[in-house]
Amino acid sequence: MPLMMMTKKFCGSLTVPGDKSISHRSLIFSAMTQGRSRIRGLLQSEDVKATWRCMEALGAIVQQSPGGRETIVHGGLPFQEPFDVLDAANSGTTIRLMVGLLTGQRLHGVITGDNSLKRRPMGRVIEPMRLMGGQVYGRQNDRYAPLTILPAEKPLQAIQYRLPVASAQVKSAILLASLFCNGTTTITEPARSRDHTERMLSALGIPVESDPVKRLVSLRGSDEYSLDAIDWQVPGDFSSAAFPMVAALLTPGSCIRIKNVGLNPLRTGLMEALKLVGARIRVENNRTEGGEPIGDLVVEATELTGSLTITPDAVPSLIDEIPVLAVAAVFMDGTLIVNGAEDLRKKESDRIEAMATALRALGITIETKPDGFVLEGNPDRRLTSPAAPLDSCHDHRIAMALSVLNRVNTARHKLSDTDDQRWPILHQDCVNISYPEFYDQMDQLWTDTAIRV
Ligand code: S3P
Repeated sequence: MPLMMMTKKFCGSLTVPGDKSISHRSLIFSAMTQGRSRIRGLLQSEDVKATWRCMEALGAIVQQSPGGRETIVHGGLPFQEPFDVLDAANSGTTIRLMVGLLTGQRLHGVITGDNSLKRRPMGRVIEPMRLMGGQVYGRQNDRYAPLTILPAEKPLQAIQYRLPVASAQVKSAILLASLFCNGTTTITEPARSRDHTERMLSALGIPVESDPVKRLVSLRGSDEYSLDAIDWQVPGDFSSAAFPMVAALLTPGSCIRIKNVGLNPLRTGLMEALKLVGARIRVENNRTEGGEPIGDLVVEATELTGSLTITPDAVPSLIDEIPVLAVAAVFMDGTLIVNGAEDLRKKESDRIEAMATALRALGITIETKPDGFVLEGNPDRRLTSPAAPLDSCHDHRIAMALSVLNRVNTARHKLSDTDDQRWPILHQDCVNISYPEFYDQMDQLWTDTAIRV
C-alpha cells in the first residue's frame, strides 16, 4: 500500500493591495486639483499614510468613505505652508515628490523621515531643484534629510536635465516643480523608469511629451492649466504580486490567480525575466483602467531552467523585485547575474548586502559586486537552518522575500510546516510599509496536500 504524507502547495486566487507608486501620486494629484476626488483601491500602508499626512499638512482634506471602499480628497492650490516639520517616515517617494511640490509651490517646509530615509541620497533631487532656481538644503552638505525647502526668490526656470540615475522619484519631483515654471522642462533618463506621473498628468489634461527611444520626457509649465479634480482607480501592485507569484512558481503542484494587477510595461520586468527561464505565467482579462494596463496573472509551478543576466537598462523595470528574483534563482537550474543595480544599495536597506547575508546564512553561495550579484541556482538545493535569526534590516521587501523562501523550502523538501521549520526573521512587521495583508494572504493560499511517497 502506497505511503501518503502531507505537504503544502500554493493554490487559489487573491487580490493584492493597491499599487504603492500610484497610491502616492493619486493622493498628491487629488490634493493639487480643485474640488473633490475619489480614489478607489488606495493602498492603506505606512508609506502611503506618510503622503496622506503630508497632503493634510498642505491643506487637503482626506477622508475614508463610509465602508472604506473609497478615499475622498478635497483639494486645490495654492497649498498652505505646513505648520510643522513634515514626516515622510520610511518613504523615498513621499520625500522626493514633496521636494518637487514645495519647490514648485514656492513654500517653506522642512521634511524628514526615519533612520533609513535619513541615510538615503537626496542630492539627486536637490540638484535639479536648484538648477530651476529652487532653494533646497540638506544635512551633510546637501546630501541627506532632514531637508529644508525655502520659497524661491524668483519664478522657477525650466531646465534641460539629464538624470544621472534612472529614478522615477527624481523624474516626478522635477515634473511636479516644472508644472509651475516658465518654459518647457526636458528630462533625459539613462534608462526608462516607471511613467505613472506622466500618465496621471495626461489624465488631468496636461500635455506631457515622451520619446521612449530617446528616453526623453518634456512638460511645458503654465499657470493656465485647469487643475480640476478627477477620480482615480488604483490597480493591484505588481511589486506585491511578485511575492505570491514566485511562491507559486517554486512550489510543486501550485497554481494561483492574482486578480486586477497593474501591468505597466515599465514595472513588469520580473515577469519578463522569469518567462525567459520557462516560468508559466499568463495574463488574462487584459484591459486598461485609469490609463494603466491591468489584468489577472495566472501562475503555475515551474522548474526554472536556464541562466539569466539582468542588464542595466532592464533594472528599473524590476528594481523592487530583485530580492524576490534572487529567491527564484536559488532553485533555478542556472545562474542569475544582476548588473547595473548599484541603486539597490540605496533603497530602504542595502538590498544587495541584506539578501547576500541572509542567503549565505542558509548555505547559498552568492558573489556580490558593487552593482549587483551572481547567484548559482540549484533545483535540488537543501537550505541549512540558520544559526541566528535572519535580518530583514527593517526592509519590507527583504522580509517578504525571505518569508517566501522559507515557505517554498519547506514545501519543496516536503518538510512539515511546524514552527521549528520557520526561520526566525527579525522585524517582520515592516511588511506594513507596502503590503500589510502579506502574511494573512500567504497563509490563506498555503494549502495542505497529500502526496504519495
Ligand atoms: C518609485 C520609484 C523607485 C522604486 C520605489 C517607488 C516611485 O525608486 O524603487 O519603490 O514610486 O516613483 P527610484 O525612483 O529611487 O528608482
